[in-house]
Amino acid sequence: MSNGILKGKKGIIFGALNENSIAWKVALKAHAEGAEFVLTNAPVAMRMGEINELAKICGNAQIIPCDVSKDEDMKNLIGKSLEILGGKFDFILHSVGMSMNIRKSRDYTDVDYKWMHETLDISAISFHRLMQTCWKQDALNEWGSIIALTYIGAQRIFPHYSEMGDAKSLLESFARGFGYRYGKEKKVRVNTISQSPTKTTAGSGVGAFEDFFAYASALSPLGNADADNCADYCIAMFSDYTRMVTMQNLFHDGGFSQTGFSHDIFKVMDEKVGE
Ligand SMILES: NC(=O)c1ccc[n+]([C@@H]2O[C@H](COP(=O)([O-])OP(=O)(O)OC[C@H]3O[C@@H](n4cnc5c(N)ncnc54)[C@H](O)[C@@H]3O)[C@@H](O)[C@H]2O)c1
Repeated sequence: MSNGILKGKKGIIFGALNENSIAWKVALKAHAEGAEFVLTNAPVAMRMGEINELAKICGNAQIIPCDVSKDEDMKNLIGKSLEILGGKFDFILHSVGMSMNIRKSRDYTDVDYKWMHETLDISAISFHRLMQTCWKQDALNEWGSIIALTYIGAQRIFPHYSEMGDAKSLLESFARGFGYRYGKEKKVRVNTISQSPTKTTAGSGVGAFEDFFAYASALSPLGNADADNCADYCIAMFSDYTRMVTMQNLFHDGGFSQTGFSHDIFKVMDEKVGE
């Protein structure tokens, strides 16, 4: 299903760790649609080496390491990418998230604050840092499109999602704050895509993920959106077909966010009540 809708477009894709990553699928589809881009991830993630395989498949894309919590890394990434691509960007995907409190199973009522700072910095403030760095280096073309990935835990409580819910609230708020300014000054759009639970390294690290995944699937009339579906939506959002969409949190979740109860959940509950 490629129609060349990103032909001639240039960009940066953050967060392709392995072939399950949402960013990995976005890179494959962006390449198929004719885009040229730089791949980036944290230096520590690159040691696994899988990103080199992706770069090869994507027309020998260049890879630049960047720890998104470091100002210097971000400046270096944006500056070098402008040189490599020979011009400004038309799209950026921020597909980054990390919580040490979740990794170490620290309860929300007992978080380590040093880790919480890291969570907020890596998972949310990095989005502001990215946009501020691009702004200062005038790195985006008019009608460029910036996307970050988020989760409905920003609006509602999913206890196992813990402090990531707070990080995603902040992330979504930055899309509005910077989206206003970027729209007004440079006609650049900024949005977040709120994705279904997805079987990736980050997703599976959240407690009770399998139950969470099954519940979301049973509640959503279309079922869960998978990583491939999410990548298609990102490509649509990078294309010229969505030029007037900005400052939005776009639910890409098979209808989960608008559904209170479903026939599938009813069946499970009915069996339980009948026990
Ligand atoms: N998987 C899900 O269920 C789900 C649902 C909704 C939203 N999301 C969001 O999608 C995005 C991508 O996650 P994914 O599910 O593809 O998992 P993933 O584990 O494949 O990707 C997360 C990426 O963040 C990168 N990262 C972590 N710390 C970093 C740092 N300091 N600097 C640079 N990069 C760093 C990792 O190396 C990894 O590539 C995240 O923002 C995540 O919160 C995921």
